[in-house]
Parts: sequence; C-alpha cells; structure tokens
Amino acid sequence: MYMDKLRTLWPHLDRENCIQVIDQRALPHQMIIRDLASSEDVYWAIRDMVVRGAPLIGATAAYGMFFAGLESQNSPKPLEKLVEISQRLAESRPTAVNLFWAINRQLEVYRREDQDWPTRCRLAREMADQIVEEDVETCRLIGAHGLKVFQEIQTQKGDRPIHILTHCNAGMLGCIEWGTATSPMYQAHQSGMDIHVWVDETRPRNQGANLTAWELGRAGVPHTIIVDNAGGHLMQHGQVDLVIVGTDRTTRTGDVANKIGTYLKALAAFDNQVPFYVALPSTTIDWSLRDGVREIPIEERDPKEVHSIRGWDGEKIQEVRISPESSRAANFGFDVTPARLVSALITERGTCPASEAGLLELFPEKQEGIQI
Ligand code: MRU
Repeated sequence: MYMDKLRTLWPHLDRENCIQVIDQRALPHQMIIRDLASSEDVYWAIRDMVVRGAPLIGATAAYGMFFAGLESQNSPKPLEKLVEISQRLAESRPTAVNLFWAINRQLEVYRREDQDWPTRCRLAREMADQIVEEDVETCRLIGAHGLKVFQEIQTQKGDRPIHILTHCNAGMLGCIEWGTATSPMYQAHQSGMDIHVWVDETRPRNQGANLTAWELGRAGVPHTIIVDNAGGHLMQHGQVDLVIVGTDRTTRTGDVANKIGTYLKALAAFDNQVPFYVALPSTTIDWSLRDGVREIPIEERDPKEVHSIRGWDGEKIQEVRISPESSRAANFGFDVTPARLVSALITERGTCPASEAGLLELFPEKQEGIQI
C-alpha cells in the first residue's frame, strides 16, 4: 500500500451490500464520498464520471453486477433479468474495455448452474472483492517493472533529475491504489530517485490538473501542470526524458486508446526521440481487436464540457461558459496511438514491445486458438 490507507472504492462499514467511492468530480477542491448500493447507482456513477479510469470503471461495474444479482433474485427468470441489467451497465461508457471485461467475468459466475441463486450472488460479491485486490497487486507490479525502465533512463542521464510527461489521470484515482502510469513514479520517488513530472491539464475535464496533480502532491512527487499543447515545446528543448500514459483499451497488436490528445503527445515524442511508454494491466487489452484506429469505439461526450470550464471560486465549484453561445463544439473523449509510436508496453508481467509478438511473449495463453 502506498502513502496511506486511501483507496478509491471500499465496502461501506455500516451498510450491508453497499460500497463507497470518492466523487472524483469534486477533487481537488472537496473530498466527497458517495454510497453506491444498486446497479442503477453504479450505472450513473460510471456515466457521470463520479468514478473514472479504466480499471476503476471495471471494479465498480463488478459491484454493479453483484447488486444486479440481488435485484434479480425475486424475478421468475433471474438470469434473464440479470443479463438485462448487465446490458444497461455496459452502456455506461464505451471505450474502456475493463467495463465489459468485469461484466463478462461476473456473467460467468451467474451462469454457474451447479449453484443456487443466493450462492451465485455471494460468489459475485467475492469476485468483485477479488477484482479489487487483483488490481492493487497488478498496479504494484506495473510500478516495479516501470521502475526498471526509469532506472535505465536515469543511468543514461547521469545525476540530473528525470523529467516525465503524463497525460490525463492514469493514477490511483483511475484504479484502486498505485495507478498504472503513476505507479513507477511513486516507486521511483520512494526509492529516492530524483524525478519531476510534467502534468498535462487534459481538457476538457482537466483530469491532469485536477486529479493527477492532487495525487502527486499528496505523495510529495515534484510536478508542474502544463497546458495540453506545451508538451511538444518542452520535448524540443530537451525537457522531457520520457512520456508515460495509461490506456483504456489496447489491441492485441499494441495500438493504444487513451484520453484525447495522447496521440499528439506520441507524435511529438517520436519527432524528438523521446521514449513513449504505456502502462497497463492486462485487463485493458482487448484481445479480439487488431486495428485500434478502426475498431476501438471512441466515446463522444456532451459538447457542454468543451463550451465550459469548471473550477473553484473560493467557496464552491462553479461552471462558466468560455465559448460563444452560437458556436458548436465536438467532444471526442479518446484517441488511438498506433503501436509504431509506442516504445514499449509496461504490464504486470513485464515490459514488452508494442506488437502482437511482444504481447504474446508475456501472455502466451492468448495465442489464437488457445482457450483459457
Ligand atoms: O475519461 P476518463 O477520465 O475515464 O479517462 C481515463 C484515461 O484516459 C486514463 O488514462 C486511463 O483510463 C487509464 S487509468 C489508470
């Protein structure tokens, strides 16, 4: 466990069949905790981005499926009712594959005909708890493998601090603890390595400025927030030693979907020979896809997020309009960075080239034709 006991999701201590989550819409200004006790609560929490980030979306959905089991138990056909609720949960957000991964993992539990329905519900609860613990360990391991990458770069750079650029929030707030892209940062900082992180603000919702900066600050990691378009300039001036980001869905060929703007950072990194790493749990790999640009569904969100900006006025969170009333806006949530621009993928099983061969070296059970 890193820093303190804070997690992004935990069981309610006094309320049975209820979990609590941090409302990430209020950070860094307010710490608001929300109770989630039904599949509908979970649907809205994911849809409205109370919780966000691929691994956390998956873990929260796993509890949504546990609640869905309880909600289906008095139905004459509980499995049919459950599948119906699971379809609604699956509509909460389209890009992060962890959502569908967690729902499918729970559907397997509920399809166990050798068990009665209350037992299946209990097993689904245990599965959700297990997904949470697995995520913690997976992210810790990603950090350990990423630390080795950082150490190699440190060896090349000599004594001076390593400057790392990251986009969006691939931190503990997007997971349970540690984060993905932030896990090597935390482990490097803990080991005494001198690091500094450039944090892209990440419009339109500013997950970098709001969330990554808050997390790094709590951990004492030196960081500087920059506007989204500053990264290329910093790379041209030798002020970025590596880029590391998370991902919402990675194809079996190593194409990577992540928050909108990631692709432009990868292009700038390529042009400036800055290594570009993607940190990911294997739950984020969509083994059924080969062509990320064509096949990964890209979320389009409400244009209001582009037209306005949210912030703290000293007393409360306010939202103000920044564009003409008559202008239209488009709000693409993610983009795809092709594998050829990715220096390596950092997973819980180690670091590999961003390619099908590279991924299969680490995950041989995913060879086509092999079913595990
Ligand atoms: O729209 P969000 O905030 O859910 O997008 C999150 C990201 O793009 C993260 O980089 C990704 O999910 C990895 S989280 C460890």
